[in-house]
Parts: sequence; C-alpha cells; structure tokens
Amino acid sequence: MSVSRALSKLWTIIIIVVVVVAVAAGGGLYYYYTTTSKPQKLTFVLIGKGVHPYWSVVEAGMKKAADEIRSKYGADIEATFFTPTREEAYLQLSQVDTYIAQKVTGLAIAPVDAEAAIPYINKALQQNILTITFDTDSPNSNRLAYLGTNNYKAGYLGGLAAYMLAKEKGYIKPGATLKVGIITATLSAQNARERVQGFQDAIKKCIETDPDIRGNINLVIIGPYEDKGDVSTAVNYALSILQANPDLQIAFGSNAYEGPAWSQAMQQLNYPPGKIVLVEFDVTSDNVPPLQQGYALATVGQREYFMGYYAVWLLYNMTKYGVDKALKSFIPGYPNNKIYDTGVDLVGTQHMEFTAPTGEKVVILGLSEYKQLMSKLGVDPSLLGLQNVS
Ligand code: BGC
Repeated sequence: MSVSRALSKLWTIIIIVVVVVAVAAGGGLYYYYTTTSKPQKLTFVLIGKGVHPYWSVVEAGMKKAADEIRSKYGADIEATFFTPTREEAYLQLSQVDTYIAQKVTGLAIAPVDAEAAIPYINKALQQNILTITFDTDSPNSNRLAYLGTNNYKAGYLGGLAAYMLAKEKGYIKPGATLKVGIITATLSAQNARERVQGFQDAIKKCIETDPDIRGNINLVIIGPYEDKGDVSTAVNYALSILQANPDLQIAFGSNAYEGPAWSQAMQQLNYPPGKIVLVEFDVTSDNVPPLQQGYALATVGQREYFMGYYAVWLLYNMTKYGVDKALKSFIPGYPNNKIYDTGVDLVGTQHMEFTAPTGEKVVILGLSEYKQLMSKLGVDPSLLGLQNVS
C-alpha cells in the first residue's frame, strides 16, 4: 500500500470515528433533554363569586381534574381557587389584575358583573392568558368560551315547576291573583339576570297556555330585589315581602343562599311549611335542609362540580393542543357556538312528573334519586349536603 493510500484510509477512519462520536453525543444530549428537562409549569386560577358551599363543590371538581392531569400526563399543574368574601365586582376584579400581573397560564372567571369584567378579561387575553368564563358569562367580552348552566333555561324550568306546584295547591284559578316574590343577588350578573327572566317568562307562558286559565290571572311580580350578595339583606327582603304580602303564593331565590333566606324568613314568621311554593337554586348543604323541612318545594340543581372539573381540563387541553382544537373537540357547534352547557336537574323531596301547559315535560327528582345520580356521575354526595339522605 502506498503511503498516500494509507493516509487517506487513516483519514477515512478518523472521519468515521468523529461522525460516530458526534452522533452518539448528540443523541445523548437529545436523550438528556427529553428525559430530564422539567415540563413547563402550568398555573390555572379559577375565580368564583363568593363564599358559599356551592363554590366548595366547584373547587373540589377543579382539584379532581388537576390530579387526573398530573397522574395521566405527569404535567406540572398548579390549580388555585380564589373567591372574594362577598359577591362584589371590585373585590373580584382587583384580584384578576393580580393574576394577570403574575402571568398565570389560564383563568376561568365567574364575573359578578358581566360588563365590568370585560376590560379585565380582554386584558388577560391580550397578555396571552387563556381566559374563559364559567358559572356565569360575560358574553360581550372576548372570552374564549363559557362553561356552565344555561341560566335562562334553568330559570325557566324553575318557573314551570313553580307554576305546576302552585296549581296543585289550588292557587291557579281563573280570575285569581298570583303573587310571585323574587330575590336575586345582583342583576349585573348574567346568570342572575337570565334566571330571573326565565322564571318569570315560564310563569307568564303557563298562564297564557293553560286551557283552565286562558290568560285570566292577575299576575303580580314582587321584585326582583337585589341583596348584593348579602345573606342578611336577603332575609330582610324576604321578611318584608312576606309581611307586606301575606297572600304570596310563589317565592324564588335566584342564587344559592336565597332559597335558605326565604325559608328562614318563613320560619321566623311562623309560616307552615309548604304554604308558599318556594323554588330554590342549587343542591348544597345550605339548600337541602329547606327541602327536608318542607319549606322549599323544589330546587334547580346545577352541576357545578363539572364546571370546576371541565374548566381545568379545557384550559389544559388548550395548552396541549391549541385553543381551537381544544374547543372544537369539547363544544358542540364550535366556533359558532362558544358555550358548553353543564346541565341542571330539578330536585324535590320526592319524584314528580308533569306536563306543563306549555307542552314541556317537567321531572322533579327525589332527593335520594338525585343522590344516586350524583354518585353515578362520580360526585361525592356529601359534598352536596346529601350525606343524610337515604
Ligand atoms: C350561582 C353562583 C353564586 C352562588 C351563590 C349560585 O346559584 O350560580 O353564581 O355565586 O349561587 O350566590
């Protein structure tokens, strides 16, 4: 072999060795980074409206989703729940600003004031914070989606139940006066606004379509009075409505604590249970006793556990697959529709079914039936105040 051929062979060997070492080193580095680099920390914050057992249920759903995502994907997730001490917009929105400044990954907000929240929601989005509304919407903001009860429909369902229960009591007769008292937290909240509207519309529609009545009822709506999220104000409104209208037949509280406030006022004034058709909102440890004592005849049970649960899953999927893909696979009809309805159940002490004059079928689940349903859906019944229901 000539010297030059031997040299070129040596060079070839050197080049091969260098390439092999480089590839191996590169592969090692790649392996190092893909296996040892930490996943990006994701911080999600869910912002409720006020302090009530209702919100503890939302928080439990949030924790469940975060645990599932951690164990399924090994994701580094921090899910925080914040709620102001009272349903006051300024208390809530100042905190939103703090989370924007912290540059959290995602926010789910239940705006106390649908309009006041708009600049905050839009600002969060401008700063690339994934922002949705839940429990109650801010439809004129740029929120990516709303996740929660269809509140008009839920209020309407409550109104149908109220009408049918009042009819059963003999309060619905041609020429009669039907008095309905309504207490709400604040009409600045989209959910309260829609529930109050739905409730009244249902009663009006029943009066018009009921063949026994044919519109011949003098409907008197008392309120809606806004207690601004304060329980004792709600009780005081209930007391004064009852004192001024001893012939009140239907009472409605659009927020979780208002059914119990009505019930407290009725007890204080020594009303016999069931004299007034009281329809509450929600099934929580606060709402079950008025039902069991016979003061509330029905309640519109929201599925708030799933509002917390899906909010975290949805925000997480947005980080993983992108906003559009995540929303498309979650919300039927997206992008035209940006609302995911978590659904409601009408609940009373026993199972009842009727067809309203409007043609709609109304089913009221008994408490024990509802307890079973919630267990089946994976919601711990004691979270909902149902532990003593057999
Ligand atoms: C509503 C919440 C509200 C809670 C307590 C629930 O019915 O969905 O928005 O914060 O009641 O008032």
